[in-house]
Amino acid sequence: MCGIIGIASNKLVASNIIQSLKKLEYRGYDSAGIATIVNGEINEKKCAGRVENLEKMLFKNPSNGSLGIGHVRWATHGIPSKVNAHPHSSDEVSVVHNGIIENSNELKKDLEKKGYKFKSQTDTEVITNLLTDFLKDFDLVDAINKTLKTLNGSFALGIIFKKFNNIVVGARRGSPLAVGYGPEENYLGSDSYALKSMTNKITYLDDGDVCVLTNNKIDFYNSKNKKINKEILILSDDKNIAEKGEYKDFMSKEINEQNVTAKTCIKEYLDQLRKNINIYNFPINPKDIQKIVLIGCGTAYHSCITAKYWFEELTNIPIEIDIASEFRYRKIKLNKKNLYVFVSQSGETADTFAALDLCKKNKVKTCSIVNVVESSIARSSDFVLPIHAGPEIGVASTKAFIGQMLVLYILAIKISEVRKEISQSDYEKKINDLKKLPDLIKKTLNYCQDNTPIIAKDFLKAKGAMFLGRGLSFPIALEGALKLKELSYLHAEGYPAGEMKHGPLALIEEGLPVVILAPKDRYFEKTISNMQEVIARGGKVILITNESNNIISENIRFTLEIPKIDDYLTPFLMTVPLQLLAYNVASLKNCDIDKPRNLAKSVTVE
Ligand code: F6R
Repeated sequence: MCGIIGIASNKLVASNIIQSLKKLEYRGYDSAGIATIVNGEINEKKCAGRVENLEKMLFKNPSNGSLGIGHVRWATHGIPSKVNAHPHSSDEVSVVHNGIIENSNELKKDLEKKGYKFKSQTDTEVITNLLTDFLKDFDLVDAINKTLKTLNGSFALGIIFKKFNNIVVGARRGSPLAVGYGPEENYLGSDSYALKSMTNKITYLDDGDVCVLTNNKIDFYNSKNKKINKEILILSDDKNIAEKGEYKDFMSKEINEQNVTAKTCIKEYLDQLRKNINIYNFPINPKDIQKIVLIGCGTAYHSCITAKYWFEELTNIPIEIDIASEFRYRKIKLNKKNLYVFVSQSGETADTFAALDLCKKNKVKTCSIVNVVESSIARSSDFVLPIHAGPEIGVASTKAFIGQMLVLYILAIKISEVRKEISQSDYEKKINDLKKLPDLIKKTLNYCQDNTPIIAKDFLKAKGAMFLGRGLSFPIALEGALKLKELSYLHAEGYPAGEMKHGPLALIEEGLPVVILAPKDRYFEKTISNMQEVIARGGKVILITNESNNIISENIRFTLEIPKIDDYLTPFLMTVPLQLLAYNVASLKNCDIDKPRNLAKSVTVE
């Protein structure tokens, strides 16, 4: 988390820094700051809260200077406040940082003994003081190298100097960083998205790289301090995709465009005649795969659980699912005959990346399913399957979830076909059913627009909510609960409906909203029985089904009937009302939809 921007130019830079910080707010939004060089001195301005607060501050008291750095923060060390906001500056240097310095306490003690005073509670301020100290005895290159060598942990850094006032230095270890090439100015940024309005020419730094930017040149050095050349990538022109357009917020846009997301993704993976799936060049022959391990965090992990059901139904391959933050520290027996699949919207999630790194170091086969194809996870894995969802800006993942599930489903069908575990006619039927999905997502979206705001009102006074489902509806219940809690701050639990009697049933009391996901699949009758158990204990049931006939509904508060589709595809349609429900509860509570409290879009710290 945290977003970094740096610009070396011969024009004033503050306004472009602010515009880029607004784009980076998805990475953190609890405080913001900027430092420029004005009349040979470091000029630092920062504030708690959003970038717009900083912008207002600069409006009254402009930051001049043609070279500068900026930052948006997601607090790790120290509360969100002005004093903890970045940049952290001494008289000599000013630093913005994304990541965590693990040995900051020891370094702070050493520096305090030398007489350095600390103003903030951040780990970043040790970098400022360390570099200031090394600059007393060493030249610029040595001072930077010595500083970087002293730091443990992960970081992306942007640094400006009083004495070397025409350069911005960037350094990457573990946290993403890119540079951009502009006309008579150059840029440093946490990702290409922040730089895209200024340039489409980008280079990504690799771990250990350092870059030095002036307004007309960028030099790169590797971890051995050797000057290196790096590839320049030309980004595609999709600037408009990340605009809100007619929507109130990005999340409603992203929910409402999920039929298009699905259509684009399906088009990418089905061949011209739509009779076959275009996935070739597997890193491991599907016939030889002994086990598939699916790994992700949060919503991406929920897509992995859904995929476990599909793979188990469609192939004979044993499937494991794992949460990346657990996987990376367990003593797992990695096996060269297994395929390890990493699912991540951003492609930058620190835990998922570390789990992938562990697999890479053990030379096992890796595949990533990502939205951001230039991301660290995509670049490090043996095989990449993009979800083609376009930029997802709302912090709560919506269309990327649909895209992740789609690619996983398509992958399961393809692997099954290559291994000849699915009949040709079934394979063709699955492809045909897939083609119907975008229109049915649209139909579900239209159907739920008017009724979910009404249902949402019931959640306003509730102490919490439960989401229950069986089979493929279980991960969707987890996802529904996650969406509700992160957006509306209401406690919510997702459970396999059959587990209720083993404890959670004790939570059911008069008026508790319980969302029951009961499509007409092989679990239908059992889920309906579980629903009756909830009703009998006073739960206020919201039933989501594609078969409302024959259900005694007098005690059901609301029933939503979504379109019928192949059972395997029901999770896609079930997801839509749950997203809209969470969205509407959060709207009624006046929560910040695109930027829920305490969260950030790209989780680049552990
Ligand atoms: C929830 C949400 C998070 C992310 C998780 C992983 O709405 O967005 O749970 O799914 O932080 O992020 P990625 O997919 O970028 O690895």
